[in-house]
Amino acid sequence: MSEIALDLRHLSKVYANGKVALEDVSLQVPAGTFYALLGPNGAGKSTLINMLADIVRPGGGTARLFGHDMFRERAWCKRHMGVVPQEVAFDPFFNPREVLKITSGMFGCKPDMAWIDELLDRLELREQERKTTRQLSGGMRRRLLVAQALVHKPPLVILDEPTAGVDVELRRRLWDFMRELNAAGTTILLTTHYLEEAEELCEHVTIIDRGRVGTDRPMRELMREVAGRYLWLSYGEGFVLTDADKEALAAFQPRSNGRGVCLTLRHAQGGFHEAYEAAVARFGPPQDAGVRQEDLEDVFIRLTRKDNLS
Ligand SMILES: Nc1ncnc2c1ncn2[C@@H]1O[C@H](COP(=O)(O)OP(=O)(O)OP(=O)(O)O)[C@@H](O)[C@H]1O
Ligand SMILES: [Mg+2]
Repeated sequence: MSEIALDLRHLSKVYANGKVALEDVSLQVPAGTFYALLGPNGAGKSTLINMLADIVRPGGGTARLFGHDMFRERAWCKRHMGVVPQEVAFDPFFNPREVLKITSGMFGCKPDMAWIDELLDRLELREQERKTTRQLSGGMRRRLLVAQALVHKPPLVILDEPTAGVDVELRRRLWDFMRELNAAGTTILLTTHYLEEAEELCEHVTIIDRGRVGTDRPMRELMREVAGRYLWLSYGEGFVLTDADKEALAAFQPRSNGRGVCLTLRHAQGGFHEAYEAAVARFGPPQDAGVRQEDLEDVFIRLTRKDNLS
């Protein structure tokens, strides 16, 4: 399917206090994609999501959901997307099941009790059924927010840090659930600071930084082309990397932490033997050695570093 689920063009937002939160942000999310929207704190992710969710007043630009104008056809768009906002806010006097029934009503649907049961099961809220939202823990509330966003079975789900404060085991189970939804055809736009989560789940990544799109590419391509591989060799306390060593090993951009040396491997595959031999020729056999592959977190830090080196 080549249909575009979410088509955002030239979005901008200046808050009333003059803060420029988004500047000319464009991105397209093809239907069926599991899409990561990443960025450091304050990058503008929630501003963008809240604009789409009608929580923040739109600035400039256009947004289309399956071809429908998100700023003009609000009712249609609300029925066709589910948003988990970053901020948790509930009416404190309802229990989880009531919240889900009321939310269904707000979307103009008759509550689908079988689906509500499934959501309560899958998000492990069954045991909380007798509690009001006020009595739920932070992680439980967040899970209820996820359930709420899914109650009307929307074809696009936007998740703004859905797993913040959710414990490790449940987070894993939430991922499985999101993966299943995506496999069944739901398009998912995910914002998270757990980059391991984004790397594992998402097939495309857009990084925004200070209100602008920096990186926008398929996850696999980013990891193949930008993630580095390193060979580290330990030689014990007191190891010194001299200028002469640096020059001799310049091809591997050597770095030292005072206990050994770290060499950059040039190619996605291979390069290990050359680097290892070069180090042994210079320093002798190491006490220990290993190869480290950069993960999305390393790449992200490099791409969003304040001095903008990449
Ligand atoms: N209501 C507001 N009024 C003025 N400035 C705001 C408002 N809301 C957010 N901002 C500012 O806009 C910028 C973007 O904030 P936003 O919440 O969109 O970032 P974010 O990418 O979601 O960050 P985080 O990862 O911390 O959630 C920040 O500088 C923030 O201080
Ligand atoms: Mg945010």
